[in-house]
Amino acid sequence: MAVRFELLNTDPTGARTGILHTRKGSFPTPMFMPVATHAGFRHLGMEEVKETGAKVLLANTYHLMLRPGPEVFERFGGIHPFMGWDGAVLTDSGGFQIFSLPEDRLITEKGAHFRSFYDNSRQLLSPESSIAMQQAINSEIMMVLDVCIDSRTDEAGTREAMERTHRWAVRSLAAKEKRATGQALFGIVQGGVHPALRDESAAFLTKLPFDGFAIGGLAVGETKVERDTMTERATASLPQDKPRYLMGVGTPTDLLEAVLRGVDMFDCIIPTKMAQQGYAYTFQGLVRITRTAYRLEDGPLDPECDCYVCKKYSRGYLQHLMRGKHHLGSRFLSVHNVRHYQKLMERIREGISRNGYAQTYRELKSAIATPKD
Ligand code: GUN
Ligand code: ZN
Repeated sequence: MAVRFELLNTDPTGARTGILHTRKGSFPTPMFMPVATHAGFRHLGMEEVKETGAKVLLANTYHLMLRPGPEVFERFGGIHPFMGWDGAVLTDSGGFQIFSLPEDRLITEKGAHFRSFYDNSRQLLSPESSIAMQQAINSEIMMVLDVCIDSRTDEAGTREAMERTHRWAVRSLAAKEKRATGQALFGIVQGGVHPALRDESAAFLTKLPFDGFAIGGLAVGETKVERDTMTERATASLPQDKPRYLMGVGTPTDLLEAVLRGVDMFDCIIPTKMAQQGYAYTFQGLVRITRTAYRLEDGPLDPECDCYVCKKYSRGYLQHLMRGKHHLGSRFLSVHNVRHYQKLMERIREGISRNGYAQTYRELKSAIATPKD
């Protein structure tokens, strides 16, 4: 098997710790995967990302097929030597990006037809072409191409999208099985905010030989209560012995909630995106570094953090960099936020390991809860 999931402990709350064994190493779960959409980070080098303790990065098939294109990955022998990362990589299929494409796209049973943002060339992203591109990228974990829709779509429309997702999942598996590359493939549970559809989607996909299961179609317009309820509904129908990945989620509070519901893997642009906007996550809550109150503060961003930014620089200096729009400011806040997310996952895993996640959850939730969530 391309990845193997070893379940270590299930806490009384239902939160789980485990180890995800990949061909690039074995990594503890619950885990958070920073997002390197274009095979890179805007403000971080791979050395810095590695130092945060991140073990798996997410990259996007949609972006990488358009630029630099499959030939480049084939020439370089995959994304790892290309971007200088020796850890594991998970590629998203492009399913999420299709739905934010401009008006002139055409989505049929075959796939998504659209024009390249870069050179206006005709493109087809189908279940088969997504797998072929993910094979060129040579990620450890590939995702099926799915149909992601707005959470507020009615039940009939949601069912239609879900059923196409299921047919595409079958085609993705068939495409993967044509070439033995040693890569894993995850199915994606869809079904919007409709509990019966979530059950049906999980029931359909878990009959297929996927290496793990993702929960998709969340953080796309639903309420927080709906998100938590749908996560719980999906994990309840997923097998214990396979990894569960909640796509595109979320804030630290979202992660605490999803772990409580048995999720093992996460990715999100929030830590890097918020850094660019001048926000730092700390174990004392969210810090907007440009606030006047921090101008004269000579203490670190977060006294509980061990990143090099917190060891070396003050809040006052970071404010100066951010107010001056110096790239270095975004870079330093990114280093810190990505490390904070890894530290958060460490604390979560530690709590679950000693069957004390209920307490960890309460403590962290009150420490980090912010109106920005
Ligand atoms: N990223 C966040 N949500 C989704 C989803 O529903 N599908 C895919 N492919 N990627 C996502
Ligand atoms: Zn820090």
